[in-house]
Amino acid sequence: MKLPVYLYGHPVLRKISEPLQEGYPDLEQLVAEMYDSMYESEGVGLAAPQIGKNIRLVVIDADPVGESFPECAGRKLTLINPEIEILDGDTISRPEGCLSLPGISENVPRVEHIRLRWLDEKFQPHEEEISGFLARIVQHECDHLEGKLFIDHISGIRRQLNRGKLNNIVSGKVRVDYPVRFAPSVKGRR
Ligand code: NI
Repeated sequence: MKLPVYLYGHPVLRKISEPLQEGYPDLEQLVAEMYDSMYESEGVGLAAPQIGKNIRLVVIDADPVGESFPECAGRKLTLINPEIEILDGDTISRPEGCLSLPGISENVPRVEHIRLRWLDEKFQPHEEEISGFLARIVQHECDHLEGKLFIDHISGIRRQLNRGKLNNIVSGKVRVDYPVRFAPSVKGRR
């Protein structure tokens, strides 16, 4: 089943998500549906708030960008309660987009090297040093769990330049070719 992606303006995207507890009902199915929804919308990552659930769960399949970024080739990660430790504070800016912000792409500064700790679907702990674009994807998705979006990292001027597009998303005036859910204020649209 494809789950609708909640768009910018929906309050669920701005809440801090709760840790996921072992025994969460139908977790396996939820994870499978998140992967389906991510593939349907041609994203490389999806966080649970984007499908309307404020729990600390992220799916990533970075393989589609593996040709440009070798560290992404073959990397598929299901992250439960992920924690990021910054290993090197130097940042690099690259363009990012987000399924919850269709039509918007901006350069976002991110650190290049992180240590990631997380639990997999079976609640087994993992720890890995991650670099480059994969580290960027992880940081972007983990931001969602804190109620943060990539536009929070860009300058006021750049945000101002995107204001029209942002307002269009908030008011439901955007065409998206994957299932979406608009902010509750948008009447008659889902
Ligand atoms: Ni996103």
